[in-house]
Amino acid sequence: MKFFADTADVKDITELNDLGLLDGVTTNPSLIARSGRNFKDVIAEICSIVEGPVSAEVVSLDYEGMMREARGLRQIASNVTVKVPLTLDGLKACKALASDGCMVNVTLCFSAIQALLAAKAGATFISPFIGRLDDIHLDGTDLIAEIRQIYDNYAFDTEILAASVRTALHVKQVALIGADVATCPPAVIKSLVKHPLTDKGIEQFLADWKNTGQTL
Ligand code: E4P
Repeated sequence: MKFFADTADVKDITELNDLGLLDGVTTNPSLIARSGRNFKDVIAEICSIVEGPVSAEVVSLDYEGMMREARGLRQIASNVTVKVPLTLDGLKACKALASDGCMVNVTLCFSAIQALLAAKAGATFISPFIGRLDDIHLDGTDLIAEIRQIYDNYAFDTEILAASVRTALHVKQVALIGADVATCPPAVIKSLVKHPLTDKGIEQFLADWKNTGQTL
């Protein structure tokens, strides 16, 4: 499973990329606002750090506006993935962009049938938001399982990009189901390494090593 960082913070992106843990990046208008930076500047900088797909989201709601914004975003770098909302205009833009060789991430997916439409429109990625479903007392991971089954039934090659991931448990659950990608806040990616028995084991080994009086 691939890991994407769900952030527009270049410091965090650089750190994860240097660790070799990063396969791509997703951003959204809220994350861009949080960065306090110019949208195109920050996407260009992220694309210069990360080789994999970098999602940049359009903000128009109509097809023509989305296509105009997508043209500008695609000029930034070859790994820009245009992110469109899961609406009829978004699906139309997805079809046109994908037919023109552009990677497209269809975002704000909350049902399996929406995901089916995105695959039919040629999406490179579908982004089901699991945490936001959990927020309203629905199991977001059930949605990932339904989409996996539908995509496998019809051999769609659209990648399932589990989004709105909040915890290490979410990452484990979507990996078991077979999501292709998990996009996570940097803190969640870094938390995946943690286990108290690992820390305890290191402590014990170092104490025993010290007692040998040796150096390495
Ligand atoms: C995905 O591409 C979105 O940017 C993101 O995962 C949304 O997560 P949130 O629900 O924590 O805002």
